[in-house]
Amino acid sequence: MSSGIVEAWKLYNDERSGVLFVVEDVTYNICEQRAHEFKIKKLNPKIKVFRRSLTQLIAAATLDVNKELILDGNIIAVVYYRSGYEPSQYPTEAEWNVRLMMERSKAIKCPSIQYHLAGTKKIQQVLTQPGVVEKFLNGEKISSRVRKIYTGMYPLDFTVEGDRAIEMAIENPENFVLKPQREGGGNNIFGKNIKTFLTSIKGKKERTSWILMDKIYPPSQKNYFIRPGSDDYEKIDADYEVGIFGVIIGDSRNIYFNKEAGYMVRSKPVTANEGGRLSGGALSSIYLV
Ligand SMILES: Nc1ncnc2c1ncn2[C@@H]1O[C@H](COP(=O)(O)OP(=O)(O)OP(=O)(O)O)[C@@H](O)[C@H]1O
Ligand SMILES: [Mg+2]
Repeated sequence: MSSGIVEAWKLYNDERSGVLFVVEDVTYNICEQRAHEFKIKKLNPKIKVFRRSLTQLIAAATLDVNKELILDGNIIAVVYYRSGYEPSQYPTEAEWNVRLMMERSKAIKCPSIQYHLAGTKKIQQVLTQPGVVEKFLNGEKISSRVRKIYTGMYPLDFTVEGDRAIEMAIENPENFVLKPQREGGGNNIFGKNIKTFLTSIKGKKERTSWILMDKIYPPSQKNYFIRPGSDDYEKIDADYEVGIFGVIIGDSRNIYFNKEAGYMVRSKPVTANEGGRLSGGALSSIYLV
């Protein structure tokens, strides 16, 4: 990640410029965010790193005539969003305007607005529809390989397909997960709650902002969970979600940088729906045999 930001800073090609981390008002990820900041400094001590919330940027950031993003007199080459993914992070119209201004600027955004949108549940669902991923990939061979790893996703809009999905989910809620357009976990609905919730919003426009997904029942394996505040470990039936990180820098014509950047394994007790730290999840590493 840090080396990707440094690569983007180099592409911007202005030695005076800095990097802006857009942060939450209060963050629980400070250690990991600062680690990126220190790594950037280590890779190139010339790069200034600024941390500002969307609200602070309202007064501090402007666009100059060349569409360069200026923060308190400093040119910003790269904007790295660690906030801006939740509606509550835009308390007033002014925060939305700041976001728009950064998007209009020449600064290289991480993620770009296209990638931010591509990560939403709605777009993931649309990509599973016949013919859609094929528009973006080169040829039948590669798109069918990608399709092989898809899990069923269904829209909940006011169409025959949407009505069918709602019926299906109410009948067999244990087979599905209901998801809103939110990131970061903790917002999905599982099991019996799907039935209650869908019954209550069936006739409302709100249903179109949710999508339905087949529930995945991954294989489980015993693992040792170590918790803060305890010297002991627990042996638990757990399942695992592997995430691969990647860095890509490009524009509408070229890809300038494209690199795999490590991985993360989330493990959780099989009894938990989601693996957040609060619901008893933990981080693991891969052991290949
Ligand atoms: N189809 C599914 N079957 C079983 N569990 C699921 C499914 N989808 C999500 N989960 C559980 O819920 C957690 C959060 O879901 P998900 O990854 O969809 O949302 P997110 O983390 O909020 O967003 P994203 O990863 O798209 O940024 C997952 O880590 C997983 O534990
Ligand atoms: Mg996730």
